[in-house]
Amino acid sequence: MLISDNVLLKSYNTFGLSATARYFSTFSNQQELAALLEDPRVQERRMILGGGSNVLFTRDFDGAMLKNEIKGIEIIGEDNDYVYVKAGAGENWNGFVQYCIQHNLAGLENLSLIPGNVGASPMQNIGAYGVEIKDTFQELEAFHLHDKTVVKFDNAACDFGYRESVFKRQYKDQFAILNVTYRLSKQPHFNTSYGAIEAELEHMGVKDLSIQAISQAVINIRTSKLPNPAEIGNAGSFFKNPAVDLVHYEALKGTYPNLVAYPLADGNFKLAAGWLIEQCGWKGYRDGDAGVHAKQSLVLVNYGNASGNAIYELSQKVIESVKEKFNVVLEREVNII
Ligand code: FAD
Ligand code: EPU
Repeated sequence: MLISDNVLLKSYNTFGLSATARYFSTFSNQQELAALLEDPRVQERRMILGGGSNVLFTRDFDGAMLKNEIKGIEIIGEDNDYVYVKAGAGENWNGFVQYCIQHNLAGLENLSLIPGNVGASPMQNIGAYGVEIKDTFQELEAFHLHDKTVVKFDNAACDFGYRESVFKRQYKDQFAILNVTYRLSKQPHFNTSYGAIEAELEHMGVKDLSIQAISQAVINIRTSKLPNPAEIGNAGSFFKNPAVDLVHYEALKGTYPNLVAYPLADGNFKLAAGWLIEQCGWKGYRDGDAGVHAKQSLVLVNYGNASGNAIYELSQKVIESVKEKFNVVLEREVNII
């Protein structure tokens, strides 16, 4: 297995940051990964990389960066209602979603165009437009980097939450996800609960609802407000949408009648962090090449040569101002390296 020295990561992260990895290699199957893990250069410190669309490198990575390139999409089972599709962790996420749509398999259409690879999809239970992967996730196989064994995780074992799973918590950096199996529906259950989808479908003149139409509506909405990493470096939402309790919510609503908030099943309220950040005056802010996206304040951007540290420091200032104005502490969603 070829292990390269001092590799520039600029083209391997959607923020376009110029950090380097002390060592870098790719693997295309479990055996190659196992062989890499035998190498002393990989044993001390290593990180599994997918599409690099949810990481912020604040410094050079002083270890081995192992890029997962396990490919393959396969229908592995079927029953009356569902078809089970298994995809290699290194498959592009949107490519996988489009494969399902082309085969008339429903459930992932609302998650169209999310950047990154299949292997990272369970890491933070990716979600968009009223759907999260936990709604269709069946199981995954992961390689334990220390024990060198393959472990299966079903839906319950992943303990999915909002932008959360066991892989971000107790099993952080312990596993390489090898493949993920999704359970897709033969009969679609359309989810257009996210208001913007209905409006876009109407704008598109769609008469007969289909998973293809929903996918296209989601793609249209996303491209209208999220920056394309090929043009402006970013990692999507930099922060999570925070939850507050009823007392806090009512106090905020009293002071700010336009507050954007959604009731949660547990009685708390989720606040739109983008709205909070915009109210603090950050929308469109730019300092050098680090900035806050002009159409979506939840997205921090690199206009070219910003350092990871500059973006991190900007995120700290955003956190402090939101805390001061609303007494709400924003949590970063992006993985800080
Ligand atoms: P990476 O950035 O490569 O890795 C992310 C983390 O997962 C790292 O900690 C890495 O070590 C780990 N990891 C990656 N692959 C594996 C593996 N095979 N095994 C073990 N660990 C692994 N996210 C959403 O949820 N919803 C959105 O709507 C959304 N929109 C976005 C829009 C834009 C423009 C961008 C740039 C990002 C957006 N994101 C969104 C964030 C991002 O697309 C997702 O988090 C995606 O799943 C990251 O995939 P990746 O392969 O790029 O992961
Ligand atoms: N808003 C503002 N100002 C802004 C941004 C947003 O007022 O600058 C308001 C909007 O007007 C809207 C509300 O906030 O009323 C919600 O905005 P939007 O629909 O854009 O969604 P979001 O809550 O900002 C979340 C996810 C996105 C996901 C979209 C669509 C998180 C952290 N982010 O963003 O995920 O694509 O919903 O479902 O939950 C990501 O994780 O990287 C990501 C992009």
